[in-house]
Amino acid sequence: MRAAIGCSPEEAVAQLKQGNPVALPTETVYGLVAPLWSEDAILKVYTFKQRPLNNPLIVHVLDECQLDQVAYVNAQATKLVNVFWPGPLTLILPKKLSVPLIVTAQQSSVAVRAPSSPLFRKVLALLGTPLVAPSANKFQQVSPTCAQHVMHGMGDTISYILDGGPCSLGIESTILSLLDEQHPTLLRYGPISKESLENVLEQSIHMPTADTSDHATKLCPGLFKKHYSPHTPLYLVDKLQGFKPPQHLEQQFKQQSAYIFFTRPQRTLTEKEFYLTENEDLTEAAANLFATLQYLDQRHFQSIWIEKVPPKGIGYAINDRLNRAAQDCFL
Ligand code: TXA
Ligand code: MG
Repeated sequence: MRAAIGCSPEEAVAQLKQGNPVALPTETVYGLVAPLWSEDAILKVYTFKQRPLNNPLIVHVLDECQLDQVAYVNAQATKLVNVFWPGPLTLILPKKLSVPLIVTAQQSSVAVRAPSSPLFRKVLALLGTPLVAPSANKFQQVSPTCAQHVMHGMGDTISYILDGGPCSLGIESTILSLLDEQHPTLLRYGPISKESLENVLEQSIHMPTADTSDHATKLCPGLFKKHYSPHTPLYLVDKLQGFKPPQHLEQQFKQQSAYIFFTRPQRTLTEKEFYLTENEDLTEAAANLFATLQYLDQRHFQSIWIEKVPPKGIGYAINDRLNRAAQDCFL
């Protein structure tokens, strides 16, 4: 099969009603979507993505009414939903019976978020039921932030891609577990910072011991150490300016490599040099991160070298994704 790319929410709904997963845009990344009530279509989502069945999916809802259908809502969730929904915040809550166990990987908790993308919301409204959606990329690969990325990575398996243009945020939602009300726990960095969640909750938020620890992986099965990886080897360095690679990588660093700076260097760039933001804007850097990796991955460089971004706000989420993406390439 070769996917069709189009702009019709009605066509997406028609495909979903026939049991075919479709790709839809959200404000974070494109999702591969199936209706909550269709276990067959949900199984296809796992299969198309080559995703292990023990890695649960996020349920996407239109509003608090649909949230109520799938999860037991506590006071903390209500506070956060009032401020951040619709938007890039996923909450982990106790699940209700209506959620099939295939969605939650047999767990008693469920991940829920209300995306703000108008096209996604239109499909939710037309269908009248929540939708499950992981990012629309194959397991451990770079998340798609435009319809062409989905076509490139998954076009041979899915039938329809709803084209909403580039995703405005470009990085996956923040995930917060509210299962233990005394200890809200941040499971994934994302566009909404830990500090802004703490301000609304008036409570401090716990972090898994280290970004890529085994403990974090148990709490959030999708937090694999290796994730978001391009096919081309990716090396992560503190600063590219003045960087000296270790001896065994000198050749690799100099020949047929691409370099991604955080912000545009104040000089003429070679055709092997790229940057994430014109002027130190972390939001712009996040929006360009996966698109830049996807672009360079298709350009036959032998390696890609990228520098960390300042650790503040959404910069934590960018560095988190970079650490995982570069997991196989030791310096
Ligand atoms: O922005 C996003 O969240 C995007 C868009 C499409 O909405 N979705 C996304 O889904 O990033 P995915 O499947 O790529 O990542 C979801 C993460 C996985 O790490 C998964 O393990 C975790 O959420 N997760 C899902 N249900 C969970 C649960 N009950 N408890 C803990 N973690 C859960
Ligand atoms: Mg993903």
